[in-house]
Amino acid sequence: MPSKLKNDRFIKALLRQPVDKTPVWMMRQAGRYLPEYRATREKAGDFVTLCQTPDLACEVTLQPLERYPLDAAILFSDILTIPDAMGLGLKLIESVGPKFDNPISSLADIKNLPMPDPEEDLGYVMDAVRLIRKELDGSVPLIGFAGSPWTLATYMIEGGSSKDFGKIKKMLYQEPDSLHLLLSHVAKAVSQYLNAQINAGAQAIQIFDTWGGVLSTPAYHEFSLAYMKQILDELQREHDGEKIPVILFTKGASGWIEDIANTGCDAVGLDWMQEIGQVRSKIGYRVALQGNMDPAILKSNPEVIRNEVASILESYGEGSGHVFNLGHGITPDIDPENAGAFINAVHELSKQYHTK
Ligand code: CP3
Repeated sequence: MPSKLKNDRFIKALLRQPVDKTPVWMMRQAGRYLPEYRATREKAGDFVTLCQTPDLACEVTLQPLERYPLDAAILFSDILTIPDAMGLGLKLIESVGPKFDNPISSLADIKNLPMPDPEEDLGYVMDAVRLIRKELDGSVPLIGFAGSPWTLATYMIEGGSSKDFGKIKKMLYQEPDSLHLLLSHVAKAVSQYLNAQINAGAQAIQIFDTWGGVLSTPAYHEFSLAYMKQILDELQREHDGEKIPVILFTKGASGWIEDIANTGCDAVGLDWMQEIGQVRSKIGYRVALQGNMDPAILKSNPEVIRNEVASILESYGEGSGHVFNLGHGITPDIDPENAGAFINAVHELSKQYHTK
């Protein structure tokens, strides 16, 4: 069936089909580096209300697309909507980060966790997806997302961001069965949530495993990768006759890329710690690769940014299967002009790699 998208470069690259230039989007592309985002957040009152108000979530999703020729939109929301819907009470505290009023501290807490109904309890997310699809009107695809069970569990047990992950690691080594119970509950909730996003109109999915890299290799396999695999097995991989590509992104996964590529995902998201060309030669064409410029390079200037884009494109080499992105989210201190220079450099410099 022919694609209804006006720009389907992102989906094609994920499926390793030919493209005219390398598609690009940025993790956290809707965010505080944009003055218009800060103005909308002000209007909402606070971050959680912004996420929960579909009109405003739609507005901030579209803001970066009005400025830049991005090849995909990403739903504006947060990975912590699921634990919030399980009753943990999410707040975002300025210059501290996310906090839960009721973190998990015992096996009894885990056993009492409800299973959120995506349309009932997270209907505001599905409403935002439907509204964004309507507003995009087929211009570019919409990415839906969720956190990995491991990454969500870190916030649920630590109660917020953490430096050493002391509480969850104590549970992992001392009470592994309790942690498995939590992870399988969260994995089920994530699968249902992502399937609801797909039914509402999300055209690709990314799973963010921000904290998988703090685990040992065996612990990563047992407590993070296994649950992402469970989600992949439970996801609806087609909707309305179109494939729904899935990207797995684990930050700090340099040693595990082959294992991630073997889960059945369509693409692996890379942080900036490894060279994309080396990863490509190691894993071949099993999956597409997404990444992987160090977001800190956006602090420099358009010339430095352009050179770095050129060297990543050269490292990946000829052909499709590459979605350009940063190796992690864009930070609030970035000059929007530099983000524009990054996106334009990808489009201009990548054409020569797609001539066949
Ligand atoms: O990419 C996008 O534009 C979509 C929006 C998006 C947000 N969070 C908005 C947000 C996405 C995909 C996320 C995912 C997310 N949330 C992750 C995984 C990705 C990553 O960055 O590793 C994580 C770990 C979270 C949890 C979270 N939410 C943290 C740790 C914080 C505070 C840190 C920070 O950047 O301030 C948030 C808040 C948050 N989520 C903001 C945004 C735009 C900043 C909120 C604000 O002050 O306006």
